Amino acid sequence: MKAYRAAILRFTPEGEPRHAAIFEEDGLLLVGPDANGMRVVQAVGPYRELRQQWPDVVPEHLPGRIIAPGFVDLHIHFPQTNVIGAAADGLLPWLEQHTFPEEKRFSSPEYSAREATFFTAELLRNGVTTALAFASSHTESVNALFAEARRKNMRLITGLCLMDRNAPPEALNRGASDGAFDATEQSLIDSEALIDKWHGKGRLGYAITPRFAPGCSDAQLRGAGALAAQYPEVWIQSHVAENREEIKWARQLFPASRSYLATYFDFGLLRERAVYAHCVHIDDADRALLRDSGAAAAICPTSNLFLGSGFFDYAGADRVGFRYGLASDVGAGTSFSPFHTMLAAYCVGREGQTKAGLSLSPQHLWWQHTAGAAQALGLDGKEGRPAVGNLLPGCEADFVVLNPQATPLLARRTAQADSLDQLLFAMIVLGDDRLIERTVISQEALRTICQP
Ligand code: GUN
Ligand code: ZN
Repeated sequence: MKAYRAAILRFTPEGEPRHAAIFEEDGLLLVGPDANGMRVVQAVGPYRELRQQWPDVVPEHLPGRIIAPGFVDLHIHFPQTNVIGAAADGLLPWLEQHTFPEEKRFSSPEYSAREATFFTAELLRNGVTTALAFASSHTESVNALFAEARRKNMRLITGLCLMDRNAPPEALNRGASDGAFDATEQSLIDSEALIDKWHGKGRLGYAITPRFAPGCSDAQLRGAGALAAQYPEVWIQSHVAENREEIKWARQLFPASRSYLATYFDFGLLRERAVYAHCVHIDDADRALLRDSGAAAAICPTSNLFLGSGFFDYAGADRVGFRYGLASDVGAGTSFSPFHTMLAAYCVGREGQTKAGLSLSPQHLWWQHTAGAAQALGLDGKEGRPAVGNLLPGCEADFVVLNPQATPLLARRTAQADSLDQLLFAMIVLGDDRLIERTVISQEALRTICQP
């Protein structure tokens, strides 16, 4: 059993009040193995109360520090670290000019392995302990990312990017080397083999990953839907309704569907554990489709700002009610830091709103990047599934140690905060990787990755 004494931030279990933070000024977090050897939260609460119940445990004392749940990034691209900040005139030129040329490189296992080492370290350095990530269209990239995530004991979900058209050949899926299967068939065979190899191994999960409808043939989307039906416990990830040109194109390619989002529904790709990035230009019928299917939206505010894609409609989301969480969408997104993403979400959410709604309170923003994103992934402990993104008893013990004195301005501003909302807002507005003093990952060895 390992114990930590510090201020502790966690969130109420599902139910009322919704998404409220619980903050212990002087808290104790006890972490120990569950029946499977996974390090989970055994107890959490006020130091003075818990100390008496666990008299033999000597806690590590972290004065002035805040322990908070590890962040959950609901949508990020592993092969796009090197295109952050590459500007273009909107999504489609950005893909052509910067993204596909970089993703081609991931056919190399050596390049993929080097990039995976950096990518996972950068996630942890920024306090992200769970991520749903796109790989490239090459199996080499998927294997490299899973292997590195396993080495670091991260909870990571990824999958082979399915894209059999409308990109340069080297960025597309490849056919079998002996010519026995074309690229479409081989991409589905590879996806199934990768599910078998990686899904559910330790903390790893597989996501069926059609890039977006315009990059996939009918046959590929149909095959992806068939896989999704065959493997209900794996995830699905894709993009939808990000950019007006993209939407026009998707509607031309799939005119029979009611909307761009409905195209995925028509191919059997909307269900629980399906996460759709962006969902910017959708209507209430689409919102109801998300709600009724149990699919979730990954909100990508820095990406939407950088590419000029538009603004996620929080009011619409809350009016209809579907699952959503926050995501960096690196490399169209401009930062690995959850603080930057939460700040951008706040600024975007203010657009057109005279009053900040529930979604824009600092507690709710933080929830969207932790327990809320975990709920969107179905990793909220229901039906015996793992729980991440929170620090309630039974949750996997992934957490960050925040140092609110990390910079002179943070120290000054957080010292003046006279409510929890003010403290959280100060960190959201002023925070970055310097605020993350430590990222602790749940696993047998309780591996700790420190800032250099
Ligand atoms: N739509 C299809 N592919 C991509 C991608 O790589 N990034 C973003 N932001 N949107 C996409
Ligand atoms: Zn994306």
